[in-house]
Amino acid sequence: MTTALVNIGQLVTVRPGSVWEVDVRQDTSLTVQNGRVSAVGAGTSGAQKTIDAEGGVVLPGFIDAHTHLVFGGNRCHELAWRCEGKSYQEIARLGGGIQCTVRDTRAASEETLLLAGIQHLTWGLRRGTTTWESKSGYGLDLENELKLLFTIHRLERTLMEATGDRATRRVFPTFLGLHAIGPEHTGDRSGYIEFMLEEVLPMVARAELATSVDAFIENGYFGHDDARRLASKAREHGLALRLHVDQLTDAGGAALAAELGAVTADHLEQTGPNGIQALAKSGTIPVLLPGSVLGLGLNKYPDARSMIEHGLPVVLATDFNPGSSPTPSLPFVMALAVRQMRMTPEECLAAVTTNAARSLGLEDRGRLVKGQLADFSVWPISDWREVMTWFDGPTPNSVWMSGVQVSGTLG
Ligand code: NIG
Ligand code: FE
Repeated sequence: MTTALVNIGQLVTVRPGSVWEVDVRQDTSLTVQNGRVSAVGAGTSGAQKTIDAEGGVVLPGFIDAHTHLVFGGNRCHELAWRCEGKSYQEIARLGGGIQCTVRDTRAASEETLLLAGIQHLTWGLRRGTTTWESKSGYGLDLENELKLLFTIHRLERTLMEATGDRATRRVFPTFLGLHAIGPEHTGDRSGYIEFMLEEVLPMVARAELATSVDAFIENGYFGHDDARRLASKAREHGLALRLHVDQLTDAGGAALAAELGAVTADHLEQTGPNGIQALAKSGTIPVLLPGSVLGLGLNKYPDARSMIEHGLPVVLATDFNPGSSPTPSLPFVMALAVRQMRMTPEECLAAVTTNAARSLGLEDRGRLVKGQLADFSVWPISDWREVMTWFDGPTPNSVWMSGVQVSGTLG
């Protein structure tokens, strides 16, 4: 079946062959066949079904390349501590933070986690996201890390059922066993790391439960040597490496990620010129998460301008999680990036579409051109830049994956 979406006010996509340039086509149409874009601007010719975009804006489906979609409970009780001015680290010491979510996640059944995951994914979907990376890291023991990764796979199957497209992956799982020390290993860091790297990681790899691994490299969490061990295990098992680095302190995390051949270095709020140069030399892609800066009440955002000037294909992602960055919204993240990181609307769009696709090794999505997946959203606005002008403003009238309208069908 061929479907034509007509009466599009603006169809916006990063120009093929370009990193930052954006093409805006006015008053056009989009034709979809077998889940893929078959033409742009062909009108209704050859279409069995026609849909009216009512003069709205059509954007490629956003790709959220760093999330923690699945966890138990929430951390709304931490707001009172926040109001008292307590920092992320102080809240963790009071029994909040990652360990609080670990307790709630362990107590939750797989069914409860799946429902929570579907809800979180739907929040993003209703704001235009059609592909996610999602990390484990709230189980911190064998049983619960596997439970999270299984749940992430079930989320992916839910989307496959909704679209009928079982060949297209849309939720890419990352094993984040080194997120914090599991409570039963308190005081036994090396025992915990040994267990996660020698027992859990090989099991995850054998069962093909993850495509990447990750670690939180930060004072009080994990260090450079731990990252090196993780990188060598990842290589042995054919898993990609992504790293949380330089979030709260500049401990040379960007250079470390570059040296270890990480696919992405994520956060980078504290990264200075040396780290940026190391990234530029290595091909490690920066994934910037301004929602977590806002969420922690901090004011030092990553230096996106310098990264772009160094030729780096900057990615923006939500870092959706219950603590530091409780937003599922890439439009909100783009609105922050424009104001706080001086990224242009064109750079923001590339950062959540083509660059994000590249960071996940995806070549079949991110642009609305012939042959790409028909993943897109239709917005009731007249200028595409409005998506990042309003804070938490307009949402799409409809969201499509593989040419199937999915918004509103999962929640
Ligand atoms: O990416 N930095 C480490 N991990 C998450 C926060 C997790 C949490 O607070 O639950 C992050 O910001
Ligand atoms: Fe994160």
